[in-house]
Amino acid sequence: SMLRVFAVSSRLRSLCRLQRIQAHMVRKPEVLLEKVGRTGVITMNRPKVLNALNLTMIRQIYPQLKKWESDNETDIVIIKGAGDKAFCAGGDIRAVTEAGKVGDSLAQDFFREEYILNNAIGSYRKPYIALIDGITMGGGVGLSVHGLFRVATEKTLFAMPETAIGLFPDVGGGYFLPRLQGKLGLFLALTGFRLKGRDVQRAGVATHFVESKKIPDLQKELVDLKSPSAEDVSRVLDSYQNYQPFIYFQSLVLLNPVRLFSASSVEGIVKNLKTDGSEFAKKQTETLSKMSPTSLKITLKQLQAGAALSLQDVLVMEYRLSQACMRGCDFYEGVRAVLVDKDQNPKWNPSTLEEVSNQMVEQCFSSLGEKDLTL
Ligand SMILES: *[C@@H]1O[C@H](CO)[C@@H](O)[C@H](O)[C@H]1NC(C)=O
Ligand SMILES: *[C@@H]1O[C@H](CO)[C@@H](O)[C@H](O)[C@H]1NC(C)=O
Repeated sequence: SMLRVFAVSSRLRSLCRLQRIQAHMVRKPEVLLEKVGRTGVITMNRPKVLNALNLTMIRQIYPQLKKWESDNETDIVIIKGAGDKAFCAGGDIRAVTEAGKVGDSLAQDFFREEYILNNAIGSYRKPYIALIDGITMGGGVGLSVHGLFRVATEKTLFAMPETAIGLFPDVGGGYFLPRLQGKLGLFLALTGFRLKGRDVQRAGVATHFVESKKIPDLQKELVDLKSPSAEDVSRVLDSYQNYQPFIYFQSLVLLNPVRLFSASSVEGIVKNLKTDGSEFAKKQTETLSKMSPTSLKITLKQLQAGAALSLQDVLVMEYRLSQACMRGCDFYEGVRAVLVDKDQNPKWNPSTLEEVSNQMVEQCFSSLGEKDLTL
């Protein structure tokens, strides 16, 4: 009877194997690219990993986006995420650091092709509408914020959390963040602070706020428009807006950073926070103390420089920074601590702001010569 048990379990095993193979064969594509009427619809389709963006997806989205741009049977493009949790929670960064460790070209290709896609969105010649109905972070922000229209809902959770993993707020963060009101962008960039719901629109990250349950109707109405201009799209989006009489941030907290994040160095900002001593300031000091000191200093300089640059020039700068992070150690350590081992205890090197010299920061911005990003 032992033999019978073995035979049964062996048959079971091969059945499981067969099911795995079948599951693989009917595997859903990681991104859906569809035409609905005269609308191009992009759906990030990895809901189990919060629609994290990887190079395979970038290589599918970019050529289709360019095709639709010159195709006279496409009027507008809509981008969204599958499932009910996320638009896109960021780039598939773990794969990138794995590649970086073994000198695989993915470490260059991912950033290069992602930034080329960000630029294509920022210069798109047809209305591009991002429905950011859920988590929208890092790489997901790059797929939305540069487009003409970004629709937030009560489920939107926005953040640029890169300083926590030894990176910097890339995908054009150096362009859009310094253009937000006051020092709000710098605050979001350094602390990785999460904006929710209406605050995403109030901050200027989203152009519209619509209730999540109305998104399907909104999409249908957009698809049904007859050769729409940007103004026509705008009018439909406006008609779905749910206005609130007050223009304040839900988290009043956001009025503070304007003042406290005005300093020409990260040490100066920390000093402002310590002097202020409020609950808010204490919380931000604690947050900053957990971030990579190198990332914080790179990020401040990135936003200072980016304030006066075009999106293209910012992306060229950010590509240099991405490769500097691949050469350093904080990025690998940050990904290890936050995404792999999840001990949330990265050992940064250097470990203090004071040890990160201006010269070290400046080196990260230097030209890569013929390896520079060209747009
Ligand atoms: C991207 O994700 C898909 C689906 O999980 C996977 O099949 C593919 O190999 C990934 N590509 C890269 C470059 O990691
Ligand atoms: C659309 O483009 C095709 C070729 O790409 C051309 O044959 C056709 O005349 C164009 N239609 C209009 C309405 O411009």
